[in-house]
Formats: sequence, C-alpha cells, structure tokens
Amino acid sequence: DIYLFDGRFLPKEEVNISPEDRGYYYGDGIYDVFRVYGGRLFEPELHFRRLERTAAGLRLQMPIESGPLQTKLEELIARNRLTEGTLYVQITRGTSPRSLPLPQGVAPVLVAYTTEFPRPVAAMEAGIRAKTVEDIRWLHCDYKTLNLLPNVLAKQEALDAGADDAILHRSGLVTECCASNIMIVQNGSLVTHPANNLILHGVTRAVILRLAQAAGIPAEERPFSLEELHEAEEAFITGTTVEVTPIVAVDGRPIGGGSAGPVTRRLQQLFANLIG
Ligand code: PDD
Repeated sequence: DIYLFDGRFLPKEEVNISPEDRGYYYGDGIYDVFRVYGGRLFEPELHFRRLERTAAGLRLQMPIESGPLQTKLEELIARNRLTEGTLYVQITRGTSPRSLPLPQGVAPVLVAYTTEFPRPVAAMEAGIRAKTVEDIRWLHCDYKTLNLLPNVLAKQEALDAGADDAILHRSGLVTECCASNIMIVQNGSLVTHPANNLILHGVTRAVILRLAQAAGIPAEERPFSLEELHEAEEAFITGTTVEVTPIVAVDGRPIGGGSAGPVTRRLQQLFANLIG
C-alpha cells in the first residue's frame, strides 16, 4: 500500500504521525472519502469544494490547493493500481503541544490512501434494515470533520439492535444516517433534508437529485418526520460507499412493500448508467 504523506509517496510503514498531532488529541482535522470507478475519481469537483468549504469553516489552511492535490491523488490511484475502490484524504491541523488556541506557523498534516472496495451489490439488491437514533451531533454537520463519535455510537446502537444502520433524527425530524444521506418517496416524490448545517452535503445526494431532475422525478428538500419515514412508499440511503441502497425496514416495521420500490430501482439504474 502506497500512501500520500505530506507531498510524498511512501509505504504505509514509513508514514510517521506524531502523538502531538492535533488530529490525535482534539480530532482537529478534516477528511473526505472519494469513490474511484474505472481508476478515476468520481465527481472530484464536488469533493474538493466540500473539502475547501470544511477547511475554511475550521480555519484550517489547506497544505496544497485542490488542483495540485487532485493530480497527486490521481498519481496515488495509479501507484496503487486501484480500479474500484475508495480514496481517503485526511488533513489535520498539525503537530504542536496540547493547547486549545490555533497554533501559529504549524504545517497541516495530509495523509491519503486508497482501499479496494467493490460496489455493494448485495445490499443494493436486498436493502438494509435501519434503527432510528437521536442525532446528538454538533450544529456543523455540514463540515466533514474527524469528530465522528456520535456516528460511531449510533452505528453500534443500530448493530446491537440487530439493524444494519442508524437513521438520525433531531426531535423527530430525520437528518441523515451515520455515513450516508437519506431520502424517502412520498406520493412519487423524493423528500430529503435540505443541505443546511444539520447534514453533510453528500456528493451522492447531489448526484441523485440531479439525476432525478433530469428524469422528471419530483424532489423536495425539506425535513421529514419519523412518522413520514414509517409511512413512506420507499426509502433509501445515498453515499460514496453505499451508492443507492434501499431501506426495507425501520425499527422492525417494513417500508413500502418491505423490498426496494420502483423509484429506488430507477435511481439505482440511472446511477449505474452514470458510472458506466
Ligand atoms: N461518509 N452523511 C454523512 C454523515 C457521511 O459521513 C457521508 C459520507 C454522507 C454521504 O456523503 P457522500 O455521498 O459525499 O459520500 C452523508 C463517508 C463515505 C465516510 O465517512 O466514510
């Protein structure tokens, strides 16, 4: 495995992160997960825009601009001979003694690596079961930061209950899932939480809304309630790793007919056509 570490390509064993890295003790850093199809980055502009927006929101100086970074990431994909998989990029605020104020003159630390990851065909076919969990995250879920403890705990709570994933809600209004966005189908129309500060602005979410619009499938960006979720005709999640995966049960109750519905199947097909 070849890693990108501070501008250089190295074997994993030679990547040296200090115990004084602010990512380590404060979770003071950002990340993004890109999809690689056919050896190429999927929707790189949307990912870079999100990375830049997150960096700006956290007053973190990107160590390299998006254009040159993209060139480096493409080289990383080539060096690892990756065709189908994911690419993880993490930037922490760098190494300095533990103290809250933003350190001066400290270089951010960038690490990137690739992982082989086939398309999740089984889950996309059969669907997943979800458990609803209170969303206890902070009020900047639109920033893709390393602080994922609420996501970790929600995911485990869902797994412990025999479900596959957690659907997060704030006082009964559904936001998103642990590592994906969620959409329901109501009267043939997509409904999904607006891209504000309470959810991650998913690249797959944006792509699906674009595909839906082109296909004449109506979509509304507004919060929907747990009741609306339970009564939805269909529900599915969108994300870099899950693509479009149907939700077939929520809290032990079937959604729609208990299997993927026609709108979900249509969007899966449109997405498959897009990635070729
Ligand atoms: N997660 N919401 C959350 C909380 C996420 O962490 C993610 C992605 C998404 C979907 O965004 P996108 O379509 O851009 O992948 C929504 C990545 C895959 C992760 O943390 O592993």
